[in-house]
Amino acid sequence: MRIIGQAIALAMLAAVSVQPARADEGMWLPSLISERIDDMRAKGFRLTAEDIYSINKASMKDAVVLFNGGCTGELISGEGLLLTNHHCGYDAIQTHSSVEHDYLTHGFWAMSRQQELPNKELNVRFLVRMEEVTDRIAAGETKEEIIRKAKSEGRNYRAAVEQMYYGNQQFLFVYEQFDDVRLVAAPPSSIGKFGGDTDNWIWPRHTGDFSLFRIYAGKDNKPAAYSPDNVPYRPKRHFTISTAGVREGDFTMIYGFPGNTQEYILSDAVAYVAERSDPAKIAIRTGRLDIITAAQASDPALRIHYAAKHASIANAWKKWQGEALGIGRLGTVASKRAYEEGFAAWAQDKPEYSRIVADLKAEYARIADAYFAREITRETLDALPARYTAEERAEAVFPQRKATERALCQWLFGQYARRCPVQYQVPEFLDGVAAAGSPEAYAAQIFDALWLQGADTTALHALHSDTKRMLSHIGWMLGTKSLRNLNSARLNELYTTYIKGLREWDTDRAFYPDANLTLRVAYGHVGGYEYADGEYHKPQTTLDGIIAKDNPEIYDYDIPQALRDLYASKAYGRWGTTIDGRKTVPVCFLATNHTTGGNSGSPILNARGELIGLNFDRTWRSTMSDIAFDEAICRNIAVDIRYVLFVIDRIGGADYLFDEMDFSRRK
Ligand code: ARG
Ligand code: GLU
Repeated sequence: MRIIGQAIALAMLAAVSVQPARADEGMWLPSLISERIDDMRAKGFRLTAEDIYSINKASMKDAVVLFNGGCTGELISGEGLLLTNHHCGYDAIQTHSSVEHDYLTHGFWAMSRQQELPNKELNVRFLVRMEEVTDRIAAGETKEEIIRKAKSEGRNYRAAVEQMYYGNQQFLFVYEQFDDVRLVAAPPSSIGKFGGDTDNWIWPRHTGDFSLFRIYAGKDNKPAAYSPDNVPYRPKRHFTISTAGVREGDFTMIYGFPGNTQEYILSDAVAYVAERSDPAKIAIRTGRLDIITAAQASDPALRIHYAAKHASIANAWKKWQGEALGIGRLGTVASKRAYEEGFAAWAQDKPEYSRIVADLKAEYARIADAYFAREITRETLDALPARYTAEERAEAVFPQRKATERALCQWLFGQYARRCPVQYQVPEFLDGVAAAGSPEAYAAQIFDALWLQGADTTALHALHSDTKRMLSHIGWMLGTKSLRNLNSARLNELYTTYIKGLREWDTDRAFYPDANLTLRVAYGHVGGYEYADGEYHKPQTTLDGIIAKDNPEIYDYDIPQALRDLYASKAYGRWGTTIDGRKTVPVCFLATNHTTGGNSGSPILNARGELIGLNFDRTWRSTMSDIAFDEAICRNIAVDIRYVLFVIDRIGGADYLFDEMDFSRRK
């Protein structure tokens, strides 16, 4: 009786809360964090909402920056010292590298302020404040007016009005931008990029993915263009560092700039991503990577030449595999469909909402082929070079590239012909294939014109301009600038209403706006996960794991000799700890924070708001969290701050930097 009663109660519970607010899901707006603070404190957080975000006093937000428009960084000293990922500082490190000073390979350690290296194209932004401006806009003020006013509030201020919940709310973000940001330190790539693309998106992970910069300001502590007279910026706030270590279950918080999520899209869009788009793009990239990998294996010059290209193709390729797999595994399409049906049933007698789900579905049906064609075109024809520059042609490696480039061209033409819906295929392409006999034969003709200097490039140019015309035609059909996702102007309007309705209907759900590169808080805990039946992945890795992977024969696993020596001598100093009875150094850890691209470099903080690590990745099977967060699987990956300090000290010999940092006394 009791058991039956329980079963019924459970079934009823499942029926009403189809998508309950999952434990650690969510990327919350800092200015509204008071709405979450009780939950955060229940999970172990010890501070207040005002400590996280305040416009009246210095708060944690004043220690976090948007790093160069795509990553996150945090202040770790009162003298402008900034920590971010190695892969976020990569361009700057590369720009300063030459054959004589190869900082990418050997690392870079400024031993004094004078040695810090200025960077032309590098800026950071602090959030001055954010505020909802929905009412001001409704009252007739334009976004442009609001932005203009906000920018005039301070020197080098930037401002933006961003939509939340598909335009149901509008928020003004005011930033102070600093343009004099200097490189202080970077570990060798064999630490900062340890494991390379092989370990990318993978746990167990052993990457010391960090680099250090310093923000400089004018003598008045305000933003100033680069000048040797500038002085280290004195931030309102910087993070205290905790070396007490992490334990499974410990509260964690991530403060950063997540770029793009789509948690509220209809089942139709999820099915499109997981069943149509991801598999097609993965297959196209698998072919490209096979060609490039074979070339790299055949010739060391080609290995280096294609390294960056391989990395960027492989990054999204691996991410999409995890996304499609995770969505399939979780049954997200079916559960979203049930959710929509529940909403539609509720909305039946509400004129504002009664047609919304059907209208959304109709719009998806209208645009899906066009958007798919756009994606396929971007991955194929549009991924080919429009020309080879004179500098490229002059490189010694250029002639060796011919067979590879030709094979890529043929592969991509073949994929385009077979996968792009024919009504959206470029007319010039269809004609070319018909005349040549096959996409591959046509590719060979086009490639020869591209490759040979002085060849007749008329056909090549015609194909290029036809391709651009087709892409802009599709853009026009969709009528929106947000072409990152399957979207259209009409969809945006419909979603505005749909989300409004969802929030009225699903009152138990904890809604948070999709990521849009605005500052967010995510909270969770240090945690491993069940990787496979009976196989638990612990949340912490150590130096012992690095040594186990070390292999001088394999580029990505060839660690610095200094690290081998340290392991042999066990001279870890104050960075050594005992884990499972072994004396070792902690390296990376896993947590349940909801993160995405843009969260790279984000501070990961303990219950007291002290820095315990640096976010840099997720496991590949977690990447589904851009669409649906699965508490059982989704984990972010952080470098343990103790490994960062160990490398600064023992590999870089730059422990003088510790003098300006604050360390927590708590053990
Ligand atoms: N997967 C991480 C991110 O999405 C790191 C990428 C850089 N690292 C690499 N090995 N490619 O950006
Ligand atoms: N590596 C990503 C970045 O550059 C973060 C990983 C993720 O997508 O979570 O932002």
